[in-house]
Amino acid sequence: MDWSAEIKARIRRRYARLARAGDGALARAHRMREDGYPEAVIERVPPELAAAYSGCGFPLADVSLANVRFAVDLGCGSGIDAWWAAAQMGAEGAVVAVDMTTGMLRVLGPASARGVPAGSSIFPVAGDLERIPLASGLADLAFANASFNLAVDKDAAFKEAFRILRAGGQLAARDLVLEEPLPREVLEDPLADVTSLGGVMAEDELRRVIEGAGFSGVCVSDHRPFSYVVSVQLTATKAA
Ligand SMILES: C[S@@+](CC[C@H](N)C(=O)[O-])C[C@H]1O[C@@H](n2cnc3c(N)ncnc32)[C@H](O)[C@@H]1O
Repeated sequence: MDWSAEIKARIRRRYARLARAGDGALARAHRMREDGYPEAVIERVPPELAAAYSGCGFPLADVSLANVRFAVDLGCGSGIDAWWAAAQMGAEGAVVAVDMTTGMLRVLGPASARGVPAGSSIFPVAGDLERIPLASGLADLAFANASFNLAVDKDAAFKEAFRILRAGGQLAARDLVLEEPLPREVLEDPLADVTSLGGVMAEDELRRVIEGAGFSGVCVSDHRPFSYVVSVQLTATKAA
């Protein structure tokens, strides 16, 4: 097995374990609150989705879903953000939730129709962010929460996000950036790439990767401390 496949297999094992065990919805709700989720989301989201939450913020905080008909959650995990987007869009739209950990999609599937307006659609799809199994140029919005930093090939992951968006489409992601060197114990940890920290880039480098994928208007905002790194909101556009 090559290095990339090995890291991905470890990431899948880690998140499959979290999907099975969860942390308890209450503990995760506490984390969601700390990460900036509004009470309206925390109160309404099905508890089994909350129990497997593993994001680093609320990527849809300032995103208007009014004109969004087709949205894609990239690295959805248990799919809290996909669920919230579907609840807002109702029968007017559809959300595809992509993750390579099928255990997470099994948590999302049965709960996805609960608490959302009739006719809302969430489609859990097993797939790799570096090769998204969707057609080009269709999505109005691609969003992600703490998943790009785990992509082994970040150039490929952002290029794929760009490819699936229509012209004028938006990217909104919560992700992690490095502001100072990681401590030695993290750098030397063979699991660092699996626990989100090993793959974190400096802000400038990340901005270059996003622009290199074709995006314009890249904005990095709302910096919040997150473990040894910093959680940020990323927004960008596929120019019309
Ligand atoms: C930190 S978790 C965040 C999950 C979810 N977005 C949330 O906020 O709870 C990262 C997720 O990204 C997924 N992931 C990591 N690398 C991926 C890749 N290359 N392709 C698809 N999914 C990936 C993992 O399986 C995991 O579910």
